Amino acid sequence: MSEFVNILTEERQGILYLTINREDKLNAMNLATLEELRQVFDQVMDDKAIKGVILTGAGEKAFVAGADITEIASLNEVNARKFAESGQEIFAMIENCHKPVIAVTNGYTLGGGCELAMACHMRIATANAKFGQPEVNLGIIPGYGGTQRLTLLVGRGKANELMMTGDMIGAEEAKTLGLVNHVLPTKEEAIAAAEGILEKIMSKAPLAIGMVVDCVNAVFLEENGYQTEANSFARCVKSGDYKEGTSAFLEKRKPVFRGE
Ligand code: COA
Repeated sequence: MSEFVNILTEERQGILYLTINREDKLNAMNLATLEELRQVFDQVMDDKAIKGVILTGAGEKAFVAGADITEIASLNEVNARKFAESGQEIFAMIENCHKPVIAVTNGYTLGGGCELAMACHMRIATANAKFGQPEVNLGIIPGYGGTQRLTLLVGRGKANELMMTGDMIGAEEAKTLGLVNHVLPTKEEAIAAAEGILEKIMSKAPLAIGMVVDCVNAVFLEENGYQTEANSFARCVKSGDYKEGTSAFLEKRKPVFRGE
């Protein structure tokens, strides 16, 4: 496995441990991190020694606190569509990977971080994990597949509530909603639980596991939904509210939205 700047990689006994490593920015995912994720998953698919992946965030405070708002703040309608589509494409690579990918989510799992976790095959949360899609606070919507995957995982009503209010929920509520598979007290225990699941899966027929991935994803296939999401994300970026929302975050003040 190659070396990366924003992602730590370590291989042990068939498992690739990936850690998003921008701890001082709560592991916010910038475009460079996304590009590295693309390269990692290209290699995961080709590398016969890797049988499964555990994806987590550096430190105790966050899995990933979203896409990097310093980059989101300078989008325009044209590159916003590309921004959403390229994120969607990378997350689809993860979702379609024939080797099991488990997200271990510790702390803030927000925006693009929640979307990244949802693109994994399973999610194991630590007790301190907090999930949310707070994009509305910035005058935008989730653009990396979150409008689709959250709705599929938790149903329309709760998905609408979470995306419209931007509220965060704790690990136990996320488990009740079906957003996470298991909750463990600490990160070490969550990683051990993920290892236990992966070891079990690794004793099964790899081809059959890949077919489970394809068939489960086939249930959820709705290409138009993702296209609608990328178009809507780009429309938001044309608005004054998006300028206000992102500026307010960067200036550490409350936004004043005008609906235009
Ligand atoms: N993009 C860019 N930088 C981010 C970030 C993001 N999504 N989330 C956190 N950061 C940065 C902060 O700007 C801060 O940087 P600084 O130290 O250079 O000022 C650093 O990470 C620590 O975050 P801070 O806000 O000081 O921590 P906190 O404990 O007070 O609050 C959060 C934690 C998660 C509630 C808050 O950081 C937050 O609301 N983040 C944005 C979440 C979001 O909207 N995500 C969706 C983006 S699409």
